This record gives sequence, C-alpha cells and structure tokens, in this order.
Amino acid sequence: MSVTEVPSTILQDGLLQIQGEVDAAFDAMMPVPDDTRARLIEAMRYAAIGGGKRVRPLLVAATAGMFGVDRSAAVHAGCAVEAIHVYSLIHDDLPCMDDDDLRHGKPTLHKKFDEATAVLAGDSLHALAFEILSGDRISGDPFTRAELIATLAGASGMGGMAGGQMMDMVAEDADYDLQSITRLQQLKTGALLAASVEMGAILGKVAPEGRSNLRAYARDIGLAFQIADDLLDYEGDEEKAGKALRKDDEQGKQTFVTLMGADGARDQARALVDQAVGHLASYGSDGALLAALARFIVERDR
Ligand code: IPE
Ligand code: IPE
Ligand code: MG
Ligand code: MG
Ligand code: MG
Repeated sequence: MSVTEVPSTILQDGLLQIQGEVDAAFDAMMPVPDDTRARLIEAMRYAAIGGGKRVRPLLVAATAGMFGVDRSAAVHAGCAVEAIHVYSLIHDDLPCMDDDDLRHGKPTLHKKFDEATAVLAGDSLHALAFEILSGDRISGDPFTRAELIATLAGASGMGGMAGGQMMDMVAEDADYDLQSITRLQQLKTGALLAASVEMGAILGKVAPEGRSNLRAYARDIGLAFQIADDLLDYEGDEEKAGKALRKDDEQGKQTFVTLMGADGARDQARALVDQAVGHLASYGSDGALLAALARFIVERDR
C-alpha cells in the first residue's frame, strides 16, 4: 500500500483511540484536592478533558509508533504538548487577547470560572507539561527526557507559540506581507505541531540527521493547519467548530485568507498537504497514519 491509498478508518480509529487515552491520562494526573486549590484543578480539568481534536498527541503517537515506541510513553509525551496547547487556548480566549466566550462548544474558561482562575489554570498546565516530560514514565534515559523538554520549551516560548501570539496581537497595525504572515503562523501554530512530530522521533531515538523528511512533513502541515483554521474562521460553521467564527476580520487580523483570498488559501493548503505526504514516501505504509492526519488537517470542519 502506498501512503496515498489510505483507508479512512485508520484516521478515525487513531483519533478515537488517542482522545480516550489523553482524557484518561489527564484525569489521572489532575485529582481535585480537598482544599482551597480545588477551583484551580476543576478549571484545569474543564479545559483539558474532552473537547479538543487531539491532533498534537496523535502526531506524537503516530510518529513514535513508526519507531516502535512504548505506547504509554508516547501518550504521555502527547499529553505534555496538549497541556501547552490547552494553556495557549485558555489565554488566547481571555478578554485581553481574542476575547472569546465559546470554546469546544461550551463557555470559555474565564466565562465559566473567572479571569484570575483562567490565568492560573494556564500557568499550571504550562508547568504540568514539563513535569510530565521530566518523569520516568516518558523514558528511562535522562538524555531523551532532556531533549524532549528542550524541544517543547523552544516551541512554546518566544521562539515559538508565545512569540507567534505576540506577532498576531500586533497584526492589525503591522501591515504584514505574505512572508511575515507565514513566519507568524509558523511560530503561533506550526511550532507546536512540528515539536509533536520531533518528540515522536526523539522518543524513537531517531538521530537528528535522520529526521529531515519528518521535519519537512511537519513544516508543511503546520502551515496548512493554520490556513485551514483561517479558512474555518472565514467560512466555517460555528455550530460544528464549537467556537466563535468571523473574528479575524472583526479584529482586523491579517491572515492567509486576507492576503490570498479564500480560494488561493485553500489551494495553498492542499498543495502543502500533497507536499507533506510526499515527504513520507520513504516510510511506505508506516507513514499511513501521518498521511491521513495531513489530509484531515485541511479537510476538517472543526
Ligand atoms: C486551534 O487549534 C488553535 C490553533 C492553534 C489554530 P486546534 O484546532 O488544534 O484546537 P482543538 O484543541 O482541536 O480545539
Ligand atoms: C490561536 O490562534 C493560536 C494559539 C497559539 C492559541 P487563533 O486565535 O486563531 O485560534 P482560535 O481560532 O481562537 O482557535
Ligand atoms: Mg488568537
Ligand atoms: Mg483565538
Ligand atoms: Mg482562529
């Protein structure tokens, strides 16, 4: 079987499995204490359990699976990336950022709880990510754990997600061209997706020089993912997406859609996915799940 002839169930099965595993792992990691921190942990659970598609944990697990990594280690590493992602969404929805009331079809964390709790829940999920990666459950090898931590830290901070969010916050006044928007999206969204693939390869003990096809795949899907998010914002169905749409235009954000038009953006996303799948050719059928995930990233409606 070539990677372009993938049965559709491979993706559905993969998503369902990882969604259950991530929910169970987060549930076990966040017991509600019998003291006045309870509100914080309840808020973390509200944001982290259920709801998300779990694309990042599936990228970690699918990549790790190509190299025979223990499933529980891959799931926990996936939870670390997802903890960063969930924290980024909590903060992204705050009134001082995108000011959103709906996430995953329910009230955003600061609406359900309050702003201070939302800030602290984000902070705590951020810390939890690195606590997970520093534990024995991930790997008995301290060098592997350190490499995972460095990879996720680099993708989360000023050179990754947070840096991209800053560029996004000033996008209204910055008058970005296509190159700048590409850079913004690579940091804001692409960095965590790329880190997910990289972490699967690190767990699989793939040497850095053996990761170039996986990195090329990750770069292409990272960009395609944010183009798809911008298209969803422009023309998606709010009910299905579970979040408020038509916000980018309202907030004066420059996106791929504003720069290329919806048709141009869609063509670009599809071309990037074809290119991403092409980078998996040398893995044969072992790359089938990553290929299916790439297609899902641009065809999704939520
Ligand atoms: C949404 O990410 C925010 C972006 C980085 C574009 P996802 O679409 O992966 O969010 P969930 O977790 O599945 O809702
Ligand atoms: C958010 O991008 C990316 C993050 C790093 C959280 P958006 O602001 O476009 O994400 P949505 O549309 O609110 O999910
Ligand atoms: Mg935003
Ligand atoms: Mg937002
Ligand atoms: Mg968006």
